[in-house]
Amino acid sequence: MLTTTKYPLRKEFRLLGKLLQAELSTGTKRAQRICEVWDLLLLTERTRYLNFGYWVDGCEIVDDACEAMVDLVGRAAELKPGDRVLDAGFGYGEQDVRWLETTGVSEIVGVNITPLHVREARRLAQAKGVADRVRFLQGSATELTFGAETFDKVVSIEALVQFAPRQKFLEHAHRVLRPNGIFAVTDIIPLTAQENQTPTAAKQKWEKDSFFNGTSKENWYAADEYSRRLTALGFTDVTIRSIRDDVWEPWRRYMVSRIDDPAFKARISRMIYPTYRKYLLDEVGQRVAGQPMAQADYVLVVARKPER
Ligand SMILES: C[S@@+](CC[C@H](N)C(=O)[O-])C[C@H]1O[C@@H](n2cnc3c(N)ncnc32)[C@H](O)[C@@H]1O
Repeated sequence: MLTTTKYPLRKEFRLLGKLLQAELSTGTKRAQRICEVWDLLLLTERTRYLNFGYWVDGCEIVDDACEAMVDLVGRAAELKPGDRVLDAGFGYGEQDVRWLETTGVSEIVGVNITPLHVREARRLAQAKGVADRVRFLQGSATELTFGAETFDKVVSIEALVQFAPRQKFLEHAHRVLRPNGIFAVTDIIPLTAQENQTPTAAKQKWEKDSFFNGTSKENWYAADEYSRRLTALGFTDVTIRSIRDDVWEPWRRYMVSRIDDPAFKARISRMIYPTYRKYLLDEVGQRVAGQPMAQADYVLVVARKPER
């Protein structure tokens, strides 16, 4: 339930500080600080998901859509009792609690680069009584030290775009998966192969836009190249399906429907509100190059490691 209490001043100062810190740092520190900025910008109501949501089957609020996203990836990965699962970039751990509760997987090991997320995910697992089936570790998905063939499934939601670079994680994912294991993730990529081949304005924007800050420049490749890379690593049955029509625009429509609601408004930093509102309401802006949603695709990527 939302209240109309104003966004507290002390949070405004913290936000300003975090934004400055992020701007002044590089590499892992920058990625961590950007994630800490998001913590002050969360607009979910009953959860702490950090994804745009998959807006199907009558989702009413963003939390419903985020849960639908979790279920989508769970189905794609064919999560089932007995599975040992690796989750990279788990946010606040909400998705893992849901998979543990709904699919009966035996164990999830999560890896996340942001200390705040690791701490909060551990707390959530305790509170939900699933701490004995999940381990949240701090570290980068690009530097995994797990043994070869130790997981049945590798999953991730809206995080690979930030891995510097994504390719390193794809290599680890293939290595740690058991034969017949499934890789299933949602990810953000450029829309077309053409954009991938020439340094377009969109590419420059991808590299510089704050929306994608903390992402790796090396991650600028579209579905065909993504698929080629997975195949080259030895994955089979590779599918990359665009789900953007059920992500970007429904998310934007939902935010637009709420943006002037005093209770909702009170949860947004006053520093950010005017820009955010303009961005959401400017439909033309959504379509012109330069707006991340106009240039980016939102995809579900699924692949299998073949039997030996
Ligand atoms: C957009 S959030 C998505 C979080 C969560 N999957 C969700 O949907 O709520 C991306 C997550 O990836 C994590 N992350 C970013 N770079 C990472 C890396 N190199 N290794 C592991 N996690 C990383 C961030 O800390 C953050 O938790």
